[in-house]
Amino acid sequence: MPQTKIAGIGMYVPKTVVTNNDLLKYMDTSDEWIQERTGIKERRYAERTGETTTTMGVEASKIAIERAGTTPQEIDFIIFATLSPDYYFPGCGVLLQRAMKMNEIGALDVRNQCSGFVYAISIGDQFIKTGMYKNILVVGSEKHSFGLDFSTRGRNISVIFGDGAGAVVLQPTDKKNQGILSTHLHSDGESAEILAMFNPGTHANHWTAAPVADFNEGEAGDMFMSHTMIDKAQNFPNMDGPSVFKKAVVKFPEVIMEALQANDLQPSDIAMLIPHQANLRIAQFVQQKLGLSQDQVYNNIDKYGNTTAASIPIALCEAWEQGKIKEGDLVCLAAFGSGFTWGSVLLRW
Ligand SMILES: CC(C)(COP(=O)(O)OP(=O)(O)OC[C@H]1O[C@@H](n2cnc3c(N)ncnc32)[C@H](O)[C@@H]1OP(=O)(O)O)[C@@H](O)C(=O)NCCC(=O)NCCS
Repeated sequence: MPQTKIAGIGMYVPKTVVTNNDLLKYMDTSDEWIQERTGIKERRYAERTGETTTTMGVEASKIAIERAGTTPQEIDFIIFATLSPDYYFPGCGVLLQRAMKMNEIGALDVRNQCSGFVYAISIGDQFIKTGMYKNILVVGSEKHSFGLDFSTRGRNISVIFGDGAGAVVLQPTDKKNQGILSTHLHSDGESAEILAMFNPGTHANHWTAAPVADFNEGEAGDMFMSHTMIDKAQNFPNMDGPSVFKKAVVKFPEVIMEALQANDLQPSDIAMLIPHQANLRIAQFVQQKLGLSQDQVYNNIDKYGNTTAASIPIALCEAWEQGKIKEGDLVCLAAFGSGFTWGSVLLRW
């Protein structure tokens, strides 16, 4: 059975840099608070109308495809991870297929938020290993700036997130010392509401003790999105930050150790850990817990904030471009986020 290698990688971030101080015009916050709690100094925001989650994904994909030495027409499957799709449906995969003039290949959208890219890589890995596909494009892209609550009410969330995209091309390899060694995926839906955007949705307040949507109970329609929901700001993401933090610092090290143990390896064998860029304090905690040096962990949350499904491919791309990942290096990707879902990918570059 062949192993799966990352044959090409690319990233795209919008030009507009938004510093912590720039956010002061919308909400009561401070550069000190944001830096101290999250490590974020600035983030990028996409053009209001000129860029979408898909178009950013296309830009990252062009680079990844070229670096893989292939063409859009040779890609035989698309996996697109995002929580901020251009349309509620259809997904971004088909929009990318159209924009890149690809063949009538399969296009799958993954909705696993911060761990979306890790899940997407794991799915791609299975298709390559079985020999079903030879050139899989995996994209993570987010345009968060379009729909966050930029008032003081939403500051615990809106200061954290940024826009951007990353992409890789997966191909089979017969080299012994190259490719994905294993992937490990998990979920715990007990905490689904701790980090969630409830509306628009079909939940009808079914899952929560207190209502999370105000709607008109007519015979049909009118429950998906209502004026009252908008007036009550029920159309924005909700997050209990401290609860996310507490779970993340347990599950990140756990799923990294699971990957290492499955392959009879130690934390000291890791050349580069690329953690999902949720919060610098979480990454530092994980580093400390695993006894890793600073050189073994790549962080860029200071420049881009949390770009959800895009954060791992952006960080991986930067680390590789800076020469911090070399052929044969043991690389670990690890993510945790809304759901909760979490996972890891262990690979030899
Ligand atoms: C969100 C997060 C940075 C908040 O940090 P925290 O230390 O837990 O802060 P809290 O939420 O307890 O809030 C502390 C205070 O800061 C205030 N605050 C929240 N956001 C603020 C902001 N942007 N600016 C200034 N003050 C803010 C709160 O209102 C609260 O004030 P109070 O004590 O007067 O009530 C932190 O919980 C976190 O990073 N959690 C993980 C989130 C995450 O990774 N999400 C993505 C998942 S992949």
